[in-house]
Amino acid sequence: MTESPMKLGKNRTGCGLMGERKMQAPPVAEADLDLGTLAAGNLTQKFQQQAPAIGSIPPPDTAKGMLGAAVQAIKGNKLHVYVDKLGERLAFERGGVRLYDALLSKYDSARTNGEHLPPRDAIEAIREEELEHFRMLHDTIKDLGADPAAVTPSADLVGVQALGLMQVVADPRVRFTESLMALLTAERTDTACWQLLVQLAQSLGQEEAARRFNEALQTELRHETLIYNWIGNSVTEQLKVA
Ligand SMILES: [Fe+2]
Ligand SMILES: [Fe+2]
Repeated sequence: MTESPMKLGKNRTGCGLMGERKMQAPPVAEADLDLGTLAAGNLTQKFQQQAPAIGSIPPPDTAKGMLGAAVQAIKGNKLHVYVDKLGERLAFERGGVRLYDALLSKYDSARTNGEHLPPRDAIEAIREEELEHFRMLHDTIKDLGADPAAVTPSADLVGVQALGLMQVVADPRVRFTESLMALLTAERTDTACWQLLVQLAQSLGQEEAARRFNEALQTELRHETLIYNWIGNSVTEQLKVA
């Protein structure tokens, strides 16, 4: 069994118990501090003013003549916004599958460590549902004449955000039950963004798509509740040991 992370004595990050003398920082001239902060702030502003957009969206292929009347009704920039947000969810769902893959690979070693674990098949079922959402979004984007393989600006952003979550789950020092916090972050973001996508599709008259997105939303709400409860059960088990 691995060492409990709750064991006291090795953590040296706290400074509240070191005494008043050690708490005093070396004297720093206020002017120096202001100058340093100001310079960094100015530099950041300069970069922000000159930075180009994070990406662009490939124009949908409307030349095929295969698009339905409902899709053709989405004009110009509205179609770009819609494709951008569909690309965002596609990237997120693909990232979700990878997060659950990483979690499952941690599951078996966690069992030998005596952690309180949820059923493995329940995690596998969530992973399959994330994959189903990915496929549904892939088909939705394709039906619009857009390219599901394109990384839209919003897809790029969620890819960067997901890096931190994957780092948590993939870190061998992080226990299975601690990894669940990263999944909770992902699932809560996911439900909020599916809600937004339902509203967006409805506002564009994409009723059939909105219905499918709402089904995905209900599934994601279930995921969120499951992960939340698993974390709660884990904390309860830790209290029993303590
Ligand atoms: Fe998801
Ligand atoms: Fe989910």
